[in-house]
Amino acid sequence: MAILLLFALLLLTQGQAFPTENPVLKNASALDTVYPEIAEYSNTSEQYSTQASPLGSSRQIPQTIIVGVRKGGTRALLEMLDIHPNIVVAATEVHFFDWDENYVKGIEWYRNLMPFSYENQITIEKTPGYFTAPQTPERIHEMNSSIKLLLILRDPTERVISDYTQVYYNRLENRKPVQAFEDIVIKNGALNTKYKAIQRSLYDLHMERWLKYFTLDQIHIVDGNNLIKSPLTELQKVERFLDLPPRIVSSNFYFNQTKGFYCIRSDGKERCLHESKGRPHPVVNETVLEQLYSYFREHNKRFYNMVNQSFDWH
Ligand SMILES: *[C@@H]1O[C@H](CO)[C@@H](O)[C@H](O)[C@H]1NC(C)=O
Ligand SMILES: *[C@@H]1O[C@H](CO)[C@@H](O)[C@H](O)[C@H]1NC(C)=O
Ligand SMILES: *[C@@H]1O[C@H](CO)[C@@H](O)[C@H](O)[C@H]1NC(C)=O
Ligand SMILES: *[C@@H]1O[C@H](CO)[C@@H](O)[C@H](O)[C@H]1NC(C)=O
Ligand SMILES: *[C@@H]1O[C@H](CO)[C@@H](O)[C@H](O)[C@H]1NC(C)=O
Ligand SMILES: *[C@@H]1O[C@H](CO)[C@@H](O)[C@H](O)[C@H]1NC(C)=O
Repeated sequence: MAILLLFALLLLTQGQAFPTENPVLKNASALDTVYPEIAEYSNTSEQYSTQASPLGSSRQIPQTIIVGVRKGGTRALLEMLDIHPNIVVAATEVHFFDWDENYVKGIEWYRNLMPFSYENQITIEKTPGYFTAPQTPERIHEMNSSIKLLLILRDPTERVISDYTQVYYNRLENRKPVQAFEDIVIKNGALNTKYKAIQRSLYDLHMERWLKYFTLDQIHIVDGNNLIKSPLTELQKVERFLDLPPRIVSSNFYFNQTKGFYCIRSDGKERCLHESKGRPHPVVNETVLEQLYSYFREHNKRFYNMVNQSFDWH
């Protein structure tokens, strides 16, 4: 309830700060608007830990982890996988492998944050920061070298803009000064490649580190742009990758005309993962967009080769 209230408050603040007529911020992206990083309806792990273990169930370390990428649609993917009867999901982002102060607490601390599951179920957690954190692949490998990993990616330029947008709203909320996208991304006429959001979109460089510890067939890449347009197609691929019986069906999704996005129907309940109009993206200068596209082009090509799979990114 506290989370829900906080969330409502947050939206209110945003609404006041940004009337939708604001000409600079009129485009919204499905990956941000429907599926924010805050799960306002889920049971939290804190709640889990106060419950007694249901008969025959126990907490398991995850057999699968959604490792990223930030702003790629990780929350949407997790919530949609939660439809599957053989999957249980951790409600919060655990940050076990990427934050040293958590990692030192050890694997039992980690396991205790997982929900109860039965023997026929697998446990999944998602922490979007894992993909870009240098120490994470080795640590996950040490826990389970045969683990199956899920990685959801979207167009790298779109991801940068979405990353910027999230930070932008956080700063507004905290009454900190904000800068226009172009002023951060362009420095002295050239692309500011030191910008963190740009570095996070260099998928080839990050993937290279993961492939030192895991084989390609242990990492399934979900097309984030496609998950929004055609959720069932992407989820069926994940079911096959996880060797789960096909249980997610088309009637688990319905298109909400008002929102313009898919919502989830499961266990007789309907849920759209967000109750607001969401966060509009800035409309970015075309020249700057082109600079970003061309910067990422080589990296994307290298990534496609590395993973033997291509995507229709710019
Ligand atoms: C909003 O974004 C979508 C997809 O990124 C694009 O097709 C559309 O033209 C954009 N609309 C505006 C008003 O910029
Ligand atoms: C939280 O979990 C409990 C036990 O699994 C369940 O009975 C309850 O409906 C859940 N609450 C929500 C809001 O999902
Ligand atoms: C390691 O991951 C694999 C693949 O998900 C799973 O089958 C196996 O049970 C896991 N091992 C442990 C100890 O969790
Ligand atoms: C569809 O979206 C609108 C606008 O967000 C919302 O008010 C409504 O409850 C949704 N309807 C369903 C059936 O999910
Ligand atoms: C976009 O930025 C370039 C410089 O990077 C500038 O020359 C151009 O006028 C800008 N275009 C618009 C429409 O603001
Ligand atoms: C690359 O993908 C193709 C088609 O998807 C497949 O036939 C081939 O075996 C793959 N190669 C490797 C090295 O995984």
